[in-house]
Amino acid sequence: MRLSHILFTLAVAANTVLAWQPDYILRISNQTIASDCQPRSSVVVNGTAPGPLLTFQEGQHYWVRVFNDLPDQNTTIHFHGFTQYTTPFSDGTPLTSQWPIPPGHFYDYEFNLEDGFHGTYWYHSHVNMQVLTAQGPVIVEPKNKTAPIDYDEDIVMMLSDDYHASDETIVAGLLNTSVFGWLGEPQNLLVNGHAPGECNETALSAGQTCNVTCGNNLQKVLPGKKYRVRVIGATVLSYIGLALEGHNMTVIEVDGTYVEPYPVVDLELGAGQRYSVIIETMQNPPKHDYHWRLRTMWRPTRVNGSALWQYDDDAPSNCPYDNHGPVSSAATPTNLNETVYLPEEKFGWYSDDFVQWNSTEYPPTDDEVTRVIVLNGQQLVAGKSGFRWSVNNHLYNGTTPHVPYLVGLYSENPTERMPNYSIALQHGGYDPLSNTYPAKLGEVLDIVIENHAGPTSGMAEAHPWHSHGRKYWDMGSGTGNFSYAALNASRAAAKGLPYLRDTSVVYPSPGAAYNGSVTGNYSDAGWRLFRIKVEDPGTWLVHCHITPHQVMGMMTVFMYGAEDLAPIPESLVHEFLTYGGGAYGERTYSYSTIPRSFFSEMKRAAEELRMLERIRRSAKGLREYVGGGRSAVSADRKG
Ligand code: C2O
Ligand code: CU
Repeated sequence: MRLSHILFTLAVAANTVLAWQPDYILRISNQTIASDCQPRSSVVVNGTAPGPLLTFQEGQHYWVRVFNDLPDQNTTIHFHGFTQYTTPFSDGTPLTSQWPIPPGHFYDYEFNLEDGFHGTYWYHSHVNMQVLTAQGPVIVEPKNKTAPIDYDEDIVMMLSDDYHASDETIVAGLLNTSVFGWLGEPQNLLVNGHAPGECNETALSAGQTCNVTCGNNLQKVLPGKKYRVRVIGATVLSYIGLALEGHNMTVIEVDGTYVEPYPVVDLELGAGQRYSVIIETMQNPPKHDYHWRLRTMWRPTRVNGSALWQYDDDAPSNCPYDNHGPVSSAATPTNLNETVYLPEEKFGWYSDDFVQWNSTEYPPTDDEVTRVIVLNGQQLVAGKSGFRWSVNNHLYNGTTPHVPYLVGLYSENPTERMPNYSIALQHGGYDPLSNTYPAKLGEVLDIVIENHAGPTSGMAEAHPWHSHGRKYWDMGSGTGNFSYAALNASRAAAKGLPYLRDTSVVYPSPGAAYNGSVTGNYSDAGWRLFRIKVEDPGTWLVHCHITPHQVMGMMTVFMYGAEDLAPIPESLVHEFLTYGGGAYGERTYSYSTIPRSFFSEMKRAAEELRMLERIRRSAKGLREYVGGGRSAVSADRKG
């Protein structure tokens, strides 16, 4: 049956449309910015990099209108870590959940923030390398203000990489098969878009001048306060280790999940990860200036960075984030490596040591797992000197204009787009016809992410893996080859328990590139297990969050509940099906052709289908269908 044939009424009065205002407006444009004093033409949000802080409330419903003011590039915005239950069209993944927004158009992102959903998130473009500068922080405030440690104020620290080369140059290098061009390490590490640096006159393009200032991000703080520092790993490549001179840190939040207070020596963030730490300022500080020391990790070469906290009795008591500065004009102390200790790389860092603060939530048991899907992260040799990062030897096809996977499910011939479960079961979960990993609502998937050593180098890297749509249970990690015995051993050795998060590092060992150690070409070099209860119908990317790896193809699509997507009216289906269709309002229009009540209607329809009820019921049936739960792992492996 064609989903779009099931119509429902949309009650929208014209005057409702006119009176309606989105909660936030983001304008994506091209501007010359000079984060570290070197002017660079960059894709920015509302004129700055990073863009504005967006604040939402748990349990509320929001609209964010995104205008594409770029003259010649598509864009989208992804709200990283957001659950998109009943709003699968708002995930911001080009050619997966939506057509990208064409220049001169806008798209309205809508979401229902569920009860229990709060914490630190971020938004970013999901097109090419735009995320490098088109990004910004998000705070979802909880209804209940009790935190694992009570605190006075918030401070946001967005950590990003700074590259002087343009997005276009970087992408062209990565995709060049005759002369592969790797972007290399960043020129600087930025905190809230700032770093000290110098302007090189000879590298300027027409119209740019060196008349710029830059310096360390400066945060004024008050004595005797408890700050909740929300650190966001918004890099395209770097793992950043960091700590603050003279102050201790206690972790209370991991990717939006409160955890039991856990003191750490350093924080370590891969691209996409967030941690909140509580830092208590001194009552009577012996001096005013204390520096953060930042340093890249898990890469063969290290890049250093810094930021400044300054005690000042006039510091504002509530200013979590200022993306326009101020910056400190003082030079960074040269002995930061002596005054701020940062430990060396340690497999897993503290990632398996956390315990959820809400102890009433548990992961599905081993017994409830209906299928195991192994995703091998591996390099393929491409062209003369190039490599491509793949998932199970497939490259994500995000460049050829194909109908986005989600949109395709509503197309004229949805049967052509519907996943084939039997074929998927024969291919380790991958359906070569739909080019996705399909799953039915109610399934519990164990997604094993494996690192593999390079095809010629015998070395492995650390990869931060992110799953869209809903948080997964991070069950644990280990070196070498995955097995359930290895999982059990890792759980027994871990100080913590499985917890919900949205981005986890799959660490390399043996054969790690950062210290030049080598193992057999292609061999197993580390794993991590994500356990997911399939509840959200939609098409969700699972990918490495290192942007150049994504650009090369290290992304794949999970298609959940294709049969259970809420129906949308035929007239609207058409607006989503076309690139630049009516769902993508034009700049001169005050509204798109999609009624404001669209997703609310989808939600209502979903509820009418009693989706959650179905999810509960279908789990057992599906287990029969897929036959075998965990034991399938041996058959699935290396499929
Ligand atoms: Cu933060 Cu698919 O991304
Ligand atoms: Cu990667």
